[in-house]
Amino acid sequence: MADWESILAFLQPKDSPYCPETPSLTQKVFLRTYAMEGLFGGAAGGGKSSALLMSALQYVDVPNYSAIIFRRTYADLALPGAIMDRFTTWIANADDVSWNGSLYVATFPSGARISFGYLNNSQDYLRYKGAEFQFIGMDEVTEIREHDYRYLFSRLRRPATGPVSQVPLRMRCASNPAPNWVRQRFIVEAETTGRVFVPSLLTDNPGIDAESYRQSLQALDPVERKRLEEGDWWSTTLGTMFDRESVVLLENEELPTLTPKAKAVRFWDLAASEPSPAYPDPDWTVGTLMLFDQGIAYVLDVKKIRHRGEKVEQFIAQTAYEDGASVPIRMEQEPGSAGKALINQYARFVVPGFDIMGIRSTGDKVTRARPFAAAIANGNVRVVRGTWLTDWLDEFSAFPEACPHDDQVDSATGAFSFLTGLGLPQRKRAAILA
Ligand SMILES: Nc1ncnc2c1ncn2[C@@H]1O[C@H](COP(=O)(O)OP(=O)(O)O)[C@@H](O)[C@H]1O
Ligand SMILES: [Mg+2]
Repeated sequence: MADWESILAFLQPKDSPYCPETPSLTQKVFLRTYAMEGLFGGAAGGGKSSALLMSALQYVDVPNYSAIIFRRTYADLALPGAIMDRFTTWIANADDVSWNGSLYVATFPSGARISFGYLNNSQDYLRYKGAEFQFIGMDEVTEIREHDYRYLFSRLRRPATGPVSQVPLRMRCASNPAPNWVRQRFIVEAETTGRVFVPSLLTDNPGIDAESYRQSLQALDPVERKRLEEGDWWSTTLGTMFDRESVVLLENEELPTLTPKAKAVRFWDLAASEPSPAYPDPDWTVGTLMLFDQGIAYVLDVKKIRHRGEKVEQFIAQTAYEDGASVPIRMEQEPGSAGKALINQYARFVVPGFDIMGIRSTGDKVTRARPFAAAIANGNVRVVRGTWLTDWLDEFSAFPEACPHDDQVDSATGAFSFLTGLGLPQRKRAAILA
């Protein structure tokens, strides 16, 4: 029967005499992971970069083992204090390791190699054509292109026989959070794909004074701070057009009594793809129900769906019946005959009898969003609390620089432009607003 000591010994990750730092508990979890893909991600200072070096070193006793660690640019890789610098300090006192400072390769007594590389330009990955590694590390992987990541994945190989055939193939990443493909690949898809995500926290690292480090993070903007201090992958970056603090929120029963001049619209921004492995994050179809009265816009409801055409049609029809026939339906109409045909299809077969029309948009999204942004900044937009609100505010406050999608912004600005007669000749517009 196994005793505790042998069980504990079994749980210990394989270590290397070249590593001067004793792994923390989370670093051990990362080192003990045998899944092909793993991400150590989260707070800055959690020991992620060190964990990559530790992982690469685990098998340097195996003849012909080959590992490589990447950063996006040469400067990121080679500056004093950066990951390669740390590595050369680690091996500086080991007489049996030779370091080639022009090729960035360390060779160990067994013949194993650890090299370093960067992927700055879009052609850089081609330097690794034909190369074979059993370990590929990517530090600050959120800065690396997804294409380069996938290409290098194909360089993860080992021969069928010999000592290296016993070494696990490992793709290992480390990064502070960022809302891009890395989040999708490891946080969203990890569970269903067998990829491993090890969350990193500042407090995990015995080699850092967490309190003084935390102090130094206080100067960052709140979004960046949530990422670096708490390792929050969902904290969104702020865009420059909408400030969520300026949006006036109302409970449903706080809606004022409207004047007879109040106008309403359900404005749809259409999309027609559902998520697929090749296209995991397509646009949404979004419909905003907005009222306009006495110069104030009220956002009453936002509906969104991500599906193929037929399901989208059912969804829009259902929404039309819920809103009632007194609410006009407007849709962003794509240019050309296909756009016209689609509106016609809706008018005849999806919501027959409703007041539906297509509206062709002019100008770019940012220009179109300006009047609505100004109305929000002036305190003239009231938003009724609904389950969709958080998501809606996230998108607006990230627009336009930092949001992965702008369908909710498009839909709202479409509704606002329609209700305020923007884009119409002055005389017609005056009649609308009178
Ligand atoms: N297990 C450890 N023991 C001692 N010091 C560590 C350990 N892990 C990391 N460090 C040190 O803590 C500092 C921050 O670690 P680093 O790997 O750069 O964090 P991250 O990449 O998560 O920002 C570095 O100086 C590193 O050498
Ligand atoms: Mg790091």
